[in-house]
Amino acid sequence: MYIPYGRQCIDEEDIQAVVEVLRSDYLTTGPKVKEFEEKIAEYTGARYGVAVCNGTAALHVACLAAGLKEGDEVITTPITFAASANCALYCGATPVFADIDPVTYNISPEEIEKKITPRTKAIIPVHYTGQPCNMNEIHRIAKGHGLLVIEDGAHALGAVYQGKKVGSLGSDMTCFSFHPVKPITTGEGGMIMTDDEELYKKLLLYRSHGITREEEMLSEQQGAWYYEQQFLGYNYRITDIGCALGLSQLKKLDSFLQRRKEIVARYTEAFEGLNGIRIPEQMDGCESGWHLYMIQVLEKDRKEVFDRLRAAGIGVNVHYIPVYQFPYYRQHGYKDVCCEQAEQFYARAISLPVFPALTEEQQEYVIQKVKEFVS
Ligand SMILES: Cc1ncc(COP(=O)(O)O)c(C=O)c1O
Repeated sequence: MYIPYGRQCIDEEDIQAVVEVLRSDYLTTGPKVKEFEEKIAEYTGARYGVAVCNGTAALHVACLAAGLKEGDEVITTPITFAASANCALYCGATPVFADIDPVTYNISPEEIEKKITPRTKAIIPVHYTGQPCNMNEIHRIAKGHGLLVIEDGAHALGAVYQGKKVGSLGSDMTCFSFHPVKPITTGEGGMIMTDDEELYKKLLLYRSHGITREEEMLSEQQGAWYYEQQFLGYNYRITDIGCALGLSQLKKLDSFLQRRKEIVARYTEAFEGLNGIRIPEQMDGCESGWHLYMIQVLEKDRKEVFDRLRAAGIGVNVHYIPVYQFPYYRQHGYKDVCCEQAEQFYARAISLPVFPALTEEQQEYVIQKVKEFVS
């Protein structure tokens, strides 16, 4: 038995949805893309959605649409996947890491404030594990300093903050990922949500080479074939095959989230009061998407517990190594960066399996092994 920390949940309906597209006229850039964008916008409460080939591309085009460039600074968290910071580097901007809050593990608003300089242009808060960041505070800070906010919601499709879904919390843009371990999947895929029409138009252009066919945007009209490349964009298009899968998955998102909640409730019940570990907390007014379930090993050596869990067939993981610790970052000016809370969290963290198809039997086995190894 091998139990991964996360995996997709695909049924016959998903398979049929993909097969239908394979028999249709469009494999890419067809009707399913628009339909998927509209449905995610409707679900999250955002005005526009722009679907792209992965979550990293979503963050990249969001940074481009925000106008980030060399000399700009972007504040993000070190406890995230590298893409949340790399997207700033792609634009020539500089990621600046603000430490995490030791209770939520999300970026700390107070730490953001400490990192603001005249060069700061944007904040990229990451709703780590699916728990929404303290967006009221982050928006207050951003407003006070004239900063853009691009939420990295890769873990948080369907998560709720003060009654609103992530994607409609009032930031400039919010990015999602549809990688197989994420709340729903398109195979590879991502989407940027925005309420701003100008940003929406830029996102569409950056997704596809900077090319437009929209008549009102063309500088001249040579004929029906005519289109223009107006600036340097990318081919970040998503397929209709992926979007058909995403549409079918979206119908099940609420039940997936419910199942994740049930799994987390069972972990909480089993681990509460257990010496040797710390379990995650959910903040008031938030409904986490529970993309990840992080424990902190307090007494035993984390590596030892991790290795024993792996040896027992449990695909535990560590999310994440503080981004600035990677050799690439160290070699590019981050050698002396240290976020204390992030380092302490990283030294103790282990992600336990949480995904909709995890069976009760599998979870009981995980619980039993964790109890055995941590105390
Ligand atoms: C927080 C975070 N941001 C961005 C990404 C990038 O998404 P993708 O893998 O779809 O490019 C991920 C994916 O692992 C992620 O976890």
